[in-house]
Amino acid sequence: MSVSDAITPEQVRAHLAKRRSQGEALGMDMDRQYQRLVELIGDVGGPLLDIGTGKGRLATVMASAAPLVVSLDPSDEDRPFARIVIADGGAADRVALLQGVGERLPFTDGCFGAVVSHQALHHFEDPAAILREMVRVAQPGGVIVASDFDAAGFDVIETIHQSEGRHHPIEGWPVDRAAAFLADLGLDVRVESGPMMTAAVARLPVR
Ligand SMILES: C[S@@+](CC[C@H](N)C(=O)[O-])C[C@H]1O[C@@H](n2cnc3c(N)ncnc32)[C@H](O)[C@@H]1O
Repeated sequence: MSVSDAITPEQVRAHLAKRRSQGEALGMDMDRQYQRLVELIGDVGGPLLDIGTGKGRLATVMASAAPLVVSLDPSDEDRPFARIVIADGGAADRVALLQGVGERLPFTDGCFGAVVSHQALHHFEDPAAILREMVRVAQPGGVIVASDFDAAGFDVIETIHQSEGRHHPIEGWPVDRAAAFLADLGLDVRVESGPMMTAAVARLPVR
């Protein structure tokens, strides 16, 4: 059993409370960010797919808007943490946590009402492959949301990481580049700003 498997609900809650107060002190309200994403997804019908689940906070909020959220991440590290977050959020029966990479989604074409990836674009090694896959598995008329921190949000995250003696690397693509890529694939794309994030919101054509 690894250290992360042994994490307790109390440790998870303490970590989230600390992050929340650190964020608030620096003007960032992550809960508002997640709520905004749910608004941007809208009422799509069909299950939702979350790519780059991490600690499971967005997946939990997404489950308030859909009967099924499939949540995928290559790393085993945060899954025990995410399981506790999802259970605490009362969403354990609506979120399926899978191990896998966004570049090769293990789903048939057109099976999700919306496909979302938040705070992960800057981690992706091959964002183009992941965005192509996101589009492939979305249903006709479905929604793609590719979002990440804006410059102010990245500053807050860097400040928090520095306070813990770490650096938060920003790689991958900025959201504007993802938006242009989705537009080139023929999707109708708009870019939304705030709170402390930027979101490319794209809709597939209805066949
Ligand atoms: C900061 S976390 C995301 C947080 C989460 N989306 C949220 O809003 O609560 C970024 C995640 O992206 C994941 N990731 C990195 N490369 C990936 C890939 N190729 N496919 C899917 N997820 C990936 C990492 O393992 C990490 O858990």
